[in-house]
Amino acid sequence: MIWPRLMQRALLKRCLHLRNSLIQTKSGKGAGKNMSNETDANGRLDDILAGYGIERSNIIPILQAVQAEFGYLSVGSISAIAKYLRLSESVVYGVSTFYAQFKFVPVGKRLIRVCRGTACHVRGVSRVLDETSKLLGIDPGETTADLEYSLESIACFGSCALAPVMVVNDDVHGKVTPDKVKQILGED
Ligand code: FES
Repeated sequence: MIWPRLMQRALLKRCLHLRNSLIQTKSGKGAGKNMSNETDANGRLDDILAGYGIERSNIIPILQAVQAEFGYLSVGSISAIAKYLRLSESVVYGVSTFYAQFKFVPVGKRLIRVCRGTACHVRGVSRVLDETSKLLGIDPGETTADLEYSLESIACFGSCALAPVMVVNDDVHGKVTPDKVKQILGED
């Protein structure tokens, strides 16, 4: 069939694009991490990998474990996972980009998710998101330079009766107004 091949090609293209942009990020301003941190991270990664066999079926549990440890999947960890499982990096990228649960940039200590579902939209969540964005100085999808906050907009969180909804890590805040945002972020 032609369409699976087209999908495969599109996925591979997306993976390569993602990989290239990650490499650029890595060699950018934040690249100056000290060597001991890197060695420590490599050791932790090796420990995780050692807990699994090299069967391809372990790819998802390994990706989950690495993300749980580091908060995201770095270029280096993708390479190490690929090497460990004897797969190409594009296969590991392909699997990890298929699932929304995996992240490829560092996530802040506090993940702020603002619901953009219909109920929240109708009740003015755009102003809440704008205020959050203004206070943190970042747009949705970004993380502050000090890695304290990440901001995401999400589809319906499933708590429509509380709209507009904002979630800080696992804490759900309902009926949020722009005036309440500062207080929720703990910056009041
Ligand atoms: S639309 Fe926001 S929680 Fe449902």
